[in-house]
Amino acid sequence: MDMMINVALPKGRLGDKAYAILEKSGYPCPAMKEDNRKLTFENEEIGVRYFLVKPSDVAVYVERGAADIGIAGKDILLEYKPDVYELLDLKMGCCRMCVAGPKDFRDDPAQTLRVATKFPNIARMYYSGLSREIELIHLNGSIELAPLVGLSDVIVDIVETGKTLLENGLAPLEEIVPISARLIANKASFKFKGERLRRLCAQMERTMNL
Ligand code: PRP
Repeated sequence: MDMMINVALPKGRLGDKAYAILEKSGYPCPAMKEDNRKLTFENEEIGVRYFLVKPSDVAVYVERGAADIGIAGKDILLEYKPDVYELLDLKMGCCRMCVAGPKDFRDDPAQTLRVATKFPNIARMYYSGLSREIELIHLNGSIELAPLVGLSDVIVDIVETGKTLLENGLAPLEEIVPISARLIANKASFKFKGERLRRLCAQMERTMNL
């Protein structure tokens, strides 16, 4: 069996921050600092291997065991419900899943609400909890455009600073759930490499609290 710990890191700012914590926690990988286009890096001495993954794919790598652990946004975990363990709230990448729309938007219960989103399951769950009938419009990005051009009435999307909404004349209307990055683990790995993964998790938690 592969006794390395395989870590799926999201490419980008969140991954850089998560790696900084891992490095401080005793899991450095100097090769990561080299500016190249490689996607895997390993430090054989301490038995850790990092994969750089598109953020929304981290949970797929971990759920299928290609990575033992990974860093994924709670938005992705809520949307795809991967069968993984959630070990730790990393309290980074913090933002809110919101309903947003024109500032003066008033919902007319007599009409089906048209909702554009990258997160159809979260949107469906939220509105079914409110018993509100909606028409879902599944987009892949630039969601804020949809209400501007009459494609939808509102959007369900991530709001971090609120700048994108503001610059497009939109406003957050309702908060659905706060979001942050989580350390997740593959269930089988947690059985077979449990002690090492628990140690890694505890060390990350300690570093975060320093
Ligand atoms: C996300 C999200 C919003 C924006 C929110 O988009 O979908 O558009 O960030 O950030 P803000 O509140 O700080 O302005 P992302 O950058 O992931 O691009 P996307 O258009 O592909 O969804």
